[in-house]
Amino acid sequence: MLSVVTPRLYRLDPLAEVDDRMAPHPTVTAAAGGRLPDWAVAGTRRREHMARVADLLESWALQWGLDEGERVRWRAVGFLHDALRDEPLSSLLPLAPADFGGLSDALLHGPAAAERLRTEGVADAELLDAVAFHTVGDPGFGRLGRALYVADFLEPGRTFLGEWGKSLRSRVPGALDEVVLEVARARIAHILDHKAALHPRTIAFWNALVEECHG
Ligand SMILES: [Fe+2]
Ligand SMILES: [Fe+2]
Repeated sequence: MLSVVTPRLYRLDPLAEVDDRMAPHPTVTAAAGGRLPDWAVAGTRRREHMARVADLLESWALQWGLDEGERVRWRAVGFLHDALRDEPLSSLLPLAPADFGGLSDALLHGPAAAERLRTEGVADAELLDAVAFHTVGDPGFGRLGRALYVADFLEPGRTFLGEWGKSLRSRVPGALDEVVLEVARARIAHILDHKAALHPRTIAFWNALVEECHG
């Protein structure tokens, strides 16, 4: 393993996590129905994006034959990932875990939303990690985290992606891991094109994907 970052941020009480998955926290259930927490700061266009991400995730969950309980989590993560996307940096900083200091608001809104959900009692660590790292990626991502990472990028509102985006979207149910690699490559190339720094977690994510691919 080439990764130098801790693969998962949230390692909560495993029993609480099982309980939370069997009977999702009320905030998660409400979000699956499109009702955001009252602390959410997201404008109309943002909410439309979140709804498209939730719909896309649900469509994949259905194609994979996931049960209703799982589909609640998948829809909820689609709505919750950007719950603080329009919150200013000064308000995000105190919410984000200490090791996220120095990130921009574009990167901080995920960790801040995950932390807010955790303090509210959400114990579903996979969901919290998916929300926290939906922008930077994470080597510890399972199917939910990977699906959110690509759905956020490929949702049908991203019309500038054209036929390429459409084709990747349709390949997800049969080849999620190949699509994740392709999306990560495109997102990282975009960062490099702008001569911006890569977050260590993004590098670790990419290395884990490549290792998997050649392993
Ligand atoms: Fe986001
Ligand atoms: Fe998003």
